[in-house]
Amino acid sequence: MTALSPEDPCSFSRPDECKVTNLDLILEVDFDSRKLCGYVDLSVQRMKDGVQNLILDTRDVSIQKITDADNCQELKYTLGENTGSFGSKLEVQLPVSSSTSNKVRVHYETSPQCTALQWLRPEQTAGKRQPYLFSQCQAIHARSMVPCQDTPAIKVPYTAKVTAPRDITILMSAVRLEPEPHPSDSCKLIHQFEQKVPIPTYLIAIVGGDLESRTIGPRSKVWTEKEMVEEAAKEFSETEKMIQTAEALLGPYIWGQYDLLVLPPSFPYGGMENPCLTFVTPTLLAGDKSLADVVAHEISHSWTGNLVTNRNWEHFWLNEGHTMFVERKITARLHDNEAFRQFLAMGGAKELEEEIEVVLKNGPYTRLIPDLKGVDPDDAFSIVPYEKGFTLLFYLETLLGGPAVFEKFLKAYVEKFKQQSIDSNQWKDFLYSYFTDKREVLDSVEWDKWFYDQGMPLVIPKYDDSLEVPCKQLSQRWSSASENELDQFNPGDLTSLTSVQVREFLALLVEEPPLSLTKVLKMEELYNLNAVRNSEVRFRWLRLCIKAQWRDAIPRVLDFVNEQGRMKFVRPLYRDLYGWEEARPIAIQNFQTHKGEMHNTTATMLAKDLKLT
Ligand code: BES
Ligand code: ZN
Repeated sequence: MTALSPEDPCSFSRPDECKVTNLDLILEVDFDSRKLCGYVDLSVQRMKDGVQNLILDTRDVSIQKITDADNCQELKYTLGENTGSFGSKLEVQLPVSSSTSNKVRVHYETSPQCTALQWLRPEQTAGKRQPYLFSQCQAIHARSMVPCQDTPAIKVPYTAKVTAPRDITILMSAVRLEPEPHPSDSCKLIHQFEQKVPIPTYLIAIVGGDLESRTIGPRSKVWTEKEMVEEAAKEFSETEKMIQTAEALLGPYIWGQYDLLVLPPSFPYGGMENPCLTFVTPTLLAGDKSLADVVAHEISHSWTGNLVTNRNWEHFWLNEGHTMFVERKITARLHDNEAFRQFLAMGGAKELEEEIEVVLKNGPYTRLIPDLKGVDPDDAFSIVPYEKGFTLLFYLETLLGGPAVFEKFLKAYVEKFKQQSIDSNQWKDFLYSYFTDKREVLDSVEWDKWFYDQGMPLVIPKYDDSLEVPCKQLSQRWSSASENELDQFNPGDLTSLTSVQVREFLALLVEEPPLSLTKVLKMEELYNLNAVRNSEVRFRWLRLCIKAQWRDAIPRVLDFVNEQGRMKFVRPLYRDLYGWEEARPIAIQNFQTHKGEMHNTTATMLAKDLKLT
């Protein structure tokens, strides 16, 4: 097999030899053929004497020709074998010239199999008027949209000119400039973008559709189809407050605009921190702002992830662990409630336990720093980097003197590494250099075990459980009650709990041995949980129903997995159905029926979960 980079097990590129320093995209969106076509100009810099080739990552793109952008002379290239997840290595022969820098122009088009893009027919949108297109490049899908050095080790500024039909709004992970009229076709517009801050390729993003916006803050708009725009503006009205809280923690927000885009329901994640334009799932629209912590999370990435970036996907916890940590700081500050932060941390630790023990069976992906040689990061994805990373940071915070001290460290960490890509050892070295007077304390941390051991974190901190107690009490009453003791429960049981606590109450029961069908039926009769629209509550309630083998719940589960495609919800529900013999064929049948409409990544992951590949 063609060698992958020694620096990044998921990329062929060799930025240590020849590095891309800027990227200009000139593309046209063609909804009929479901392609982006045009070219990309890559400014490159030779890093060593005698370097003759530029190595790029690509996946399923068709290349028409490659030229020297300065004089249009064709350049020779070879395209390696298709390796699947990692795509094909593209080796371009650089012009023989005395200068160490060049601009390479790759004329190409994406293919309908492009894994970064989902194309929707008008019927699949809320308004049903226009087609829709969106990208998801993290972790290694950018190469299917743009030939590039698809490694987070390097960062480049980019510009884009994107031609699209007039009634389609195009947005990207960049600052928007005024669109230009098309020189020869009055039905088209040329949308222009500029991202001046250098970013890794996984943060390149594009969306096109029948979009509207509402202003929700001095530097923020929410974008979505007009059917949802008012609702979205209300749900995310705390955005500016969150940004300001993040700034107080980590320093100025340097990206200019912070907009939100609410995607169609097939968007596979809760949120994605595309610079200047966070993408979120419509399942956050709960009506009561109770799921807006995902926005706090994506805002936090503007520092941890987008400014300080993991050098490769093995160090993904640097992105997500720090971001969880900051997210929970923001949430606690907005509620002025430290106990709430620890309640969320405790819930996270419980979820981590299920993930590590039940889903990942204490296997190799339960390491904080996994070995990703030959591994598609989508296959290794789990909450481990999020929650194990968070646990390590919370543990260190306590060990090193508490929030005031540790928050200063975080700010210094961002200041030190902003606009760089780093690995866990650089993080650790900085920790040691920052806390010079606490070397002994730091030496008491078993670093190798934290970084490389499989299974649960070495230490689970003792969290404040004041908000957890009522959830736990109620869940324990339900698990321990015998079937003739069910009259102790009444509809008022939930009224003193917040929606996050109801979510936690159900989560605790999901982790217990299955409740009997009688109990689950009683619970529905009293609490009317089938009527709850909050996606996090609904998700856990449906899991509980499947575990109790309630047949009537199966169609409700299918409705939920068919009407949205957030993998966090869809994958465990399919797995639960798969684990119930009677429901297994129904799950497989439902998947076969709907996979054509699903996001590529969701369909690929589900096929694996259902052991169909
Ligand atoms: N960057 C991630 C999403 C992601 C990770 C996409 C890896 C592709 C590969 C995003 O910031 C995220 O973590 N989203 C979470 C939100 C959450 C933890 C609050 C999600 O999607 O659930
Ligand atoms: Zn994240």
